[in-house]
Amino acid sequence: MKILFVCLGNICRSPMAEYILKKKCEEKKLNWEIASAGTENYHVGENADARGIRIALKSGIDMRKHVARQLTKKDFDYYDVIYSLATNVTHEISLIAKSDERMKKVKSFMDELYPGEMKSVPDPWYGDEKGFVPVFDLVERVCERIILNYSE
Ligand code: 4NP
Repeated sequence: MKILFVCLGNICRSPMAEYILKKKCEEKKLNWEIASAGTENYHVGENADARGIRIALKSGIDMRKHVARQLTKKDFDYYDVIYSLATNVTHEISLIAKSDERMKKVKSFMDELYPGEMKSVPDPWYGDEKGFVPVFDLVERVCERIILNYSE
């Protein structure tokens, strides 16, 4: 199984999902390939947001090696599932995908926990570091659910 998580900048939300799910897969000996990307190019080549890195480290998740990259058309061929972390992100993904066929691989991340509710992972970028804590906790809960949903 090859999973790609996508948010806007690939520095806050999708790296959290990537590194949390990677750790859970290691613990459960699941041989999944997991990565993340952003729809925008503002932060390409940068590390994850320092606030998110600090919050994740408190829970034993090390995102310090992350380097942001932008979503490309090739990702739609390579990955089995592309998880969009927010509804506005799904719109941006569709602008890159430019086809209904490619969009068939795109699923809502939040739907794994709240099917059909059109929920989004809140964007913590504009707030302070404390705002990253509930985002981390939510992303972790959804990642747990992804493992359950796919291991059934
Ligand atoms: P992310 O957060 O999509 O979770 O990585 C953001 C990071 C940067 C910006 C927006 C969201 N920005 O506008 O630069």
